Amino acid sequence: MKPIDLRSDTFTLPSREMLETIMEADLGDDVEREDPTVNRLQDMAAKRFGTEAALLVPSGTMGNLVAMLSHCKRGDEIILEADAHMYYYEVGGMSALVGAIPHLIKGKNGVFTPEQVQTALRPGDPLHYPPSRLLEIENTHNRAGGCCWRPSQVKDVSRLAHDNDMRVHIDGARIFNACIALDASPKDFMRHVDSLTFCLSKGLSCPIGSILVGNEEFIDKSRINRKMVGGGMRQAGVIAAPGIYALENMVTRLKEDHDNAKRLAVGLADLGLGIEITTVQTNLILADTAGIGLTEEEMVGLGRKVGVLFFTMGHNKVRFVTHYGITKQDVDEALARLETALEKKH
Ligand SMILES: Cc1ncc(COP(=O)(O)O)c(C=O)c1O
Repeated sequence: MKPIDLRSDTFTLPSREMLETIMEADLGDDVEREDPTVNRLQDMAAKRFGTEAALLVPSGTMGNLVAMLSHCKRGDEIILEADAHMYYYEVGGMSALVGAIPHLIKGKNGVFTPEQVQTALRPGDPLHYPPSRLLEIENTHNRAGGCCWRPSQVKDVSRLAHDNDMRVHIDGARIFNACIALDASPKDFMRHVDSLTFCLSKGLSCPIGSILVGNEEFIDKSRINRKMVGGGMRQAGVIAAPGIYALENMVTRLKEDHDNAKRLAVGLADLGLGIEITTVQTNLILADTAGIGLTEEEMVGLGRKVGVLFFTMGHNKVRFVTHYGITKQDVDEALARLETALEKKH
């Protein structure tokens, strides 16, 4: 039985057409800024986001890390959502490598308000408080099940941050999912903030790579920080060529993943899993297993037995992700397999 892999959009495989772009790519030494394919991808990204410059990095984690290093100094405070990827899943780089401390605020579906940011701001008393330096927004929000920040929400919190001499960074690993879901352009988010990381290696199906965008001064600083953390790459056009293909061919198809996620969510809810359908806005689905009398680990084990793979998120939560390579038929097949497995269980 062929497994249906709904664990993450990081499991997407590059298409043959995407791989073929690597063979055709013009290459050079990117540390010396001489790789024409990297330069082309960076120019494309900057244009799409309406920024002066862009920088290719190996991963989303490195993009976020480099952004923090460029914006912050040791002892600065970063305000971010309590379930943010940068806090939760990036091995504490924020503290271990940047020397910054996180100040967490609990959002609703990953989104927090200007009032909450206002409360989190430190009074201007350098004798006691760490300086509030960076506000971070995650769009779409991973642990909130792919929920989106709207451009107006980004604008409101960013204005407050800027009024208080802070910078704003978006972890936009899945920003194109937000763009498709909200019918917005990348510029609609970017015009309110100072920097943004997006991933080529998730829904856009590239094997590797993320891009950091911002103004020239920020990107120049980030290029140095990228080198410092070991992200200076040589003939990186082999990474950039699939990235160019992805920006040209893989963005609008994300709608298919969103439609499949809705179909899957409705089916899972029919099987008794707890799902807040309004939070299924993009390609991620969070489901609660308590209603069917299983722990999250038991549910993942049951799925594995019938070849339906998904991740546990702890506390009775499991996560399903739709992506390139998962068809409508796969969704129906996954639901049928889970239905049979659950019937046998009860
Ligand atoms: C919201 C978010 N930010 C950042 C990352 C990190 O990306 P990478 O795995 O490329 O380091 C991820 C990865 O899943 C993510 O979901």
